[in-house]
Amino acid sequence: MATTQTSDRGNWNSKLGFILAAAGSAVGLGNIWGYPTQVADNGGAAFILVYLVCCILVGLPVMIAEITIGRKTGKNPVGAFKALDKTGYAHLIGYWGVLCGFMILAFYLVISGWTLAYVFEEIFRFTGNAGYAAWFGDLTNGPKNAAFTVIFLLLTISIINGGVSNGIERATKFLMPVLLFILVIMIFYVLRLEGSAEGIRQYLKPDFSLINIDLTLSAMGQAFFSLSLGMGALITYGSYLKRDQNIVESATYVTVTDITIAFTAGMLVIPAMYVALAQGITIFGDDGELISSVSLVFTVLPQLFENIGGALGLTISISFFLLLALAALTSAISLLEVPVSYMIDEHNMRRKNASWVIGGSIGVVAVIISFDINLIDYFVYIFNEIGLPLGGLMLCLFLGWVWKTENAVVEIKHGFENADNSVFVKLWRIFIKYICPVLIAIVFITTVLDIIRS
Ligand code: TRP
Repeated sequence: MATTQTSDRGNWNSKLGFILAAAGSAVGLGNIWGYPTQVADNGGAAFILVYLVCCILVGLPVMIAEITIGRKTGKNPVGAFKALDKTGYAHLIGYWGVLCGFMILAFYLVISGWTLAYVFEEIFRFTGNAGYAAWFGDLTNGPKNAAFTVIFLLLTISIINGGVSNGIERATKFLMPVLLFILVIMIFYVLRLEGSAEGIRQYLKPDFSLINIDLTLSAMGQAFFSLSLGMGALITYGSYLKRDQNIVESATYVTVTDITIAFTAGMLVIPAMYVALAQGITIFGDDGELISSVSLVFTVLPQLFENIGGALGLTISISFFLLLALAALTSAISLLEVPVSYMIDEHNMRRKNASWVIGGSIGVVAVIISFDINLIDYFVYIFNEIGLPLGGLMLCLFLGWVWKTENAVVEIKHGFENADNSVFVKLWRIFIKYICPVLIAIVFITTVLDIIRS
């Protein structure tokens, strides 16, 4: 079973390769665009608490589960569930994942396109070409959005064509530290500006009265999105993993890295919002809501760069948007790899053909979104906030009750000899079987009741 791999499958070349690629998948727009926006939308620090609980109590266990299923079967999500199934239905979980990945990538490409367009926006802004700057910075400009979306898609396809170790692994190796470094430098700058203290207060001081079911659903969805869970991306990445690697340890590294980068990005964006506010820029409407959440990062940060001004401001702003684009790229490739690996395994397609066919179809949806960016909110709601936790719920139920955790532990023991005696692994079994499904189900049921009532 695990050995029937077509020649177009692959393997990670080094131990660090998998961790970096998985962290590359996790760290992306979700951390630097999504998370700060959600924090701002949901009233600050209260959101962070619920988010952390979701990441640690649900995200980490599900991540370990996905990687284990992937390595055990050596397959794409559809093939993996089929291989372990006894019910005849489990492959549907895989199909659901492939569909969510497809739709998430479609809107992800549009936002990634914005990050590229903003490199030009910044150059023109700093060189005094306000007209061009406004054109590149207009998030609702359909033809411009479509063009950058397609450019970004072509970049993604070209890396996927390069295969697992040459393409994905090499592309992700050096970017993470550089990104973190730039974020930290910018935080130091922002914290000296007027208004930032209020931002820090909003970011770190929780108002528990704001915690409600909407916030919890968003936090759960955000945790799945940011950790790349719920649609089989890590089943797929796990399928390229060798048996000498400790899955539990790797998953922990990836989770901690992802949370750290999101938290750091929040330290930058939330104070920057309040700096902008202190300078008279409107970010809240009369109703006290953010004027537009999708554009928050793209409104507030360029303002900040302009403040820094000069060659330094330009350098920082270009590096920032380029790095954001690169972080988005290492995530986009993990989204595309799922349907591509499905075509390679299940329909015997060549890697190149699969990536063009699937990439092209996603491109069509992405171009439609380019012309009506309000669609992004709907896509996020259906495929991210509902779709990913739903995938996670089914995955937990499948692993806990069909495949069984004791079988998963046999796989985990490769690379982690002591897994049997580890308290952490014992806890993990209880979480996958009972706690994670119950937590996710509670969030869903309450949301449905809430919708019916309103
Ligand atoms: N985690 C990425 C981010 O934070 C997005 C992403 C990549 C993703 N692969 C995924 C989300 C798989 C859900 C599922 O930007």
